[in-house]
Amino acid sequence: MPAETYPVGVFDSGVGGLSVVRALRQLLPAQPIHFLGDQAHVPYGPRTLDEVRAFSFALTRHLLAQGARLIVVACNTASAAALYELRRAFPDTPFVGMEPAVKPAATHTRSGVVGVLATPATFQGALYASVVERFAQGVTLLQDTCPGLVQQIEAGAVHAPQTRAILEKALEPMLRQGIDTVVLGCTHYPFAIPVIEEIVGPQVQVIDPSPAVARQVQHLLAERGWLAVGAPAELRVETTGDPEGLQTLLPQLLGENAPVARAFPPFA
Ligand code: SIN
Repeated sequence: MPAETYPVGVFDSGVGGLSVVRALRQLLPAQPIHFLGDQAHVPYGPRTLDEVRAFSFALTRHLLAQGARLIVVACNTASAAALYELRRAFPDTPFVGMEPAVKPAATHTRSGVVGVLATPATFQGALYASVVERFAQGVTLLQDTCPGLVQQIEAGAVHAPQTRAILEKALEPMLRQGIDTVVLGCTHYPFAIPVIEEIVGPQVQVIDPSPAVARQVQHLLAERGWLAVGAPAELRVETTGDPEGLQTLLPQLLGENAPVARAFPPFA
């Protein structure tokens, strides 16, 4: 009888969740991973929390039906909209969500001024309010929603002048106000780190939460005896959008390739 496997399901509004998949593949190469990007509905950021919550439930149901045992909500907006409700609705499934890395930023900052880049929905959610209240006392947080940045990254246009212009508009006023730390509160944004670092310079630390999320997944798997060891495992990639478009972007974003299939989650 083949040994039981414990695939990790990862979903996002689009390609952003691949920044988390990249960290998971580095830390846990033997763990089977099933990534699902909801590119039919990207971007989530300008949508209502109710709408994003409904998408998140449909994506979770699809991943669980395909055998995922642990779910990573690799999208800050979906985590803001649905993480608490998903945990309540599926009590037997461990969930790992994204929260803006305000805690490490508050520990690291010397100037006391931190920039946070995230979507409007993330800034509106209770999760963000809760991390600010718990960890950012005495720290000035400067926020920007970077309109259009998610779409640029979805288009594979990380190094385009328009991407740089969006980031300069967000970061230059923050630099003038003394930030020494930038929190990336959207999983799409780590793909723009080279451009962000060029703008902010070496004195400013840019915090990508993906490695910490991968470590949390490792911890939860180990706790349950679900950690896979041995040969590199399968990476399964699905999108609700255009598989050919994602196929073209995959090697550039992930550093590896895998066949991309079209998925039909049970959207209401
Ligand atoms: C978006 O789809 O607007 C971005 C998703 C995120 O918040 O990570």
